[in-house]
Amino acid sequence: MSSEPQNERVDKLMRKIICAGLAVLALNASGHTLTLDKDEDAVELRQAQMHLVGTYFSEMGAMVKGKKPYDAVTFSANADRLVALSGWAHEGFTQKQLTRDSKAKSEIWEKKMDFDHKMKAFHEQALKLQQVAEKRDMDAIKSSFKKAGDTCGSCHKPYKNK
Ligand code: HEC
Repeated sequence: MSSEPQNERVDKLMRKIICAGLAVLALNASGHTLTLDKDEDAVELRQAQMHLVGTYFSEMGAMVKGKKPYDAVTFSANADRLVALSGWAHEGFTQKQLTRDSKAKSEIWEKKMDFDHKMKAFHEQALKLQQVAEKRDMDAIKSSFKKAGDTCGSCHKPYKNK
């Protein structure tokens, strides 16, 4: 991790994501899928997305565990962001692109179907979490949050270096 203050790092990542997002929109409009020529760009895109997943997910975790007061509006907004990010995070893994900075294992591209399946499971669980967050039912939120957390681990374990 860098020594930059957290919010500056998130700012920088957000700018990158917005740029990448605009590129995706432009490419979608022309009927193409995103391919990133530079390995660094693919790694930065997926690390930026995962970093944001971690940011929102840990704030939700603090609320679920009572370390932070539960705020239904913030919690729901974070769930919305998780839905967006989880539906999009596969883009940084399209092709086998690795750099020294990357913690992704090459097994991802050897077992791409399984990897994609795990990404889909993450997205589906984020959608469920979004639904229960809207209903503000704490028991359902707790169990759904835990299941979402399990989808992180089930992918990190086989596919991410520590
Ligand atoms: C389908 C696979 C998959 C799922 C699901 C997944 N991750 Fe990841 N995550 C990865 C991989 C692979 C990396 C390493 C990327 C790299 O370094 O190139 C990563 C990296 C990260 C990082 C480090 C980002 C950085 O700054 O470099 C964080 C934080 C993270 N994930 C959090 C989460 C959380 C929280 C969840 C669940 C809510 C989650 N991830 C779900 C595959 C996944």
